Amino acid sequence: MQHKIQQAQILMDALPYIKQFSKKTIVIKYGGAAQINPELKEQFAKDIVLLYLVGIKPVIVHGGGKKINALLDKLEVKSNFIDGLRVTDEHVMEVVEMVLSGSINKEITTLLNHHGAKAIGITGKDANFMRARPMDDGKYGLVGEITKVDKKVLKHLIREKFIPVIAPIAAGDDIDHPGYNINADLAASKIAVALQAKKIIFLTDTPGVLDKEGNLISSLDKAKIKALKKDGTISGGMIPKLDACLETIRGGVECAHIIDGRVQHSILLELFTKNGIGTIIKE
Ligand SMILES: Nc1ncnc2c1ncn2[C@@H]1O[C@H](COP(=O)(O)OP(=O)(O)OP(=O)(O)O)[C@@H](O)[C@H]1O
Ligand SMILES: [Mg+2]
Repeated sequence: MQHKIQQAQILMDALPYIKQFSKKTIVIKYGGAAQINPELKEQFAKDIVLLYLVGIKPVIVHGGGKKINALLDKLEVKSNFIDGLRVTDEHVMEVVEMVLSGSINKEITTLLNHHGAKAIGITGKDANFMRARPMDDGKYGLVGEITKVDKKVLKHLIREKFIPVIAPIAAGDDIDHPGYNINADLAASKIAVALQAKKIIFLTDTPGVLDKEGNLISSLDKAKIKALKKDGTISGGMIPKLDACLETIRGGVECAHIIDGRVQHSILLELFTKNGIGTIIKE
């Protein structure tokens, strides 16, 4: 009996948070780095369905770095990274689209639907809802900088109780344009700002942002991020991630969180417990 009362207490502890976030849009960036094994993916899907069933409106934007690397290797197509961004030519773009829009997007959508949500997988090419232009004058090839997010498309889906699952590919202007490869963190940021989400959460493969000694930094602001960039504490994929966090809060979203997607139920721990986990980025 005592055990059952404890279980009820755990549910009651979540009540204030459920009240706070119910009916609110929360953008969740599901990093390729966190999509490690079938069990974790299934847990992720169940956590999202729980949010959905208590009235929160999740919007998922996913990455796929590791899987893209694996297929590029298999096909012996070379790609390299500058500033944490994958330089993308037409060959690479073809693989990026196959993996993101074909494989990962449908896998996440299927899992969510299987567990009781109504998820719809889309890319920026669907209804042309996300458009882009070459980032930094084409320095990274087909890596795009988003110029427009048509929030009407997403709002429509959300209103009809769908969970949008978004692969970070944007439409080009011409009919024969292969599309733009968008860093998923930056896509999630633009989407969170367009929807004026309550918050944005990045699930990745580190406990949060780490300092030079490898200790977790629990909170960051613009000035601290600038210093970490300057002294080289952050590198690789963490650079666009923190840029995305800053852009999101600059765009009017209260806060951004970077949490460990390798920890079971990390989203629930972040949303439904007092101190949360990971790194919080605020103004
Ligand atoms: N100071 C830092 N603290 C934590 N991680 C860091 C830091 N500096 C660099 N990183 C790197 O950033 C990586 C996370 O970014 P990465 O782009 O690899 O993952 P992701 O964005 O979750 O996945 P994807 O890009 O596939 O969506 C970490 O695995 C780590 O190697
Ligand atoms: Mg990344």
